Amino acid sequence: MLPDTFVFSNNMIKLDATTSTNDYAQALLTKGENIAEGTVVIADKQLMGRGQRGNSWVSEPGLNLTFSIILYPKFLRPSDQFELSKAISLGIVSYLRTALPVNLSLISVKWPNDIYVGDKKVCGILIENLVSGAKLTHSVVGIGLNVNQTQFSDSLPNPTSMHLVANSAFDLEQVRKELFGYLDARYLTLRNGAWHKMNKEYAASLYRFGEMREYQVKGVLMRAQICGIDDIGRLILESESGEKVHCDFKEVVFS
Ligand code: BTN
Repeated sequence: MLPDTFVFSNNMIKLDATTSTNDYAQALLTKGENIAEGTVVIADKQLMGRGQRGNSWVSEPGLNLTFSIILYPKFLRPSDQFELSKAISLGIVSYLRTALPVNLSLISVKWPNDIYVGDKKVCGILIENLVSGAKLTHSVVGIGLNVNQTQFSDSLPNPTSMHLVANSAFDLEQVRKELFGYLDARYLTLRNGAWHKMNKEYAASLYRFGEMREYQVKGVLMRAQICGIDDIGRLILESESGEKVHCDFKEVVFS
């Protein structure tokens, strides 16, 4: 059954165009206005959409979902901030598993923040947190989900969209509503302090979980399998000889 939307989208700011919905959301927070938790900034067109590692996020106007959610996860310590990323990733994965006509195991999280169908990226997540003292005071969760775009620039390594996977177009508003329901349910689980419940599911949803593959780890090529995530969100790889290596984002390259 579809979960009801509780936190997200009670307050939605719909824009025809903006530079980046994450920037718009950050600007609202900087102005110090009283912004309700779960406020969503959604735009048909981003002029300067941002991705991870300083990359840009390019999305054909009107065909996809590009939005940012403002959250106040004060219940998380800064060292637990990856829990939010887990919850958001699992929300998207569980939605896509209901919406796409493919084997569930093909829909995965490419650690740390990409959502894949098979070997292709369908969705990117950019979470920007503000930490004050021992608390996470606010987060802007930016999501770019490729819905109805069917042609992508050759410069992108491996994009796909829901339309390409399902071979048919989706109603964008319906996708948005349903996706928000799944995101909301995960955020509530997190807020209720039950995030450990999601650990096993998250590990099992990881792209290439348990498959012996080549990785470049801290500059060295090795065969290893992903066996989980540690308490601070680092990827745990286990080599053929059984040695476990904990890697942060910059230390591992998927071959
Ligand atoms: C990535 O995979 O590199 C992350 C992409 C995140 C894109 C979304 S689209 C909505 C929000 N606004 C942005 O400028 N970026 C995020």
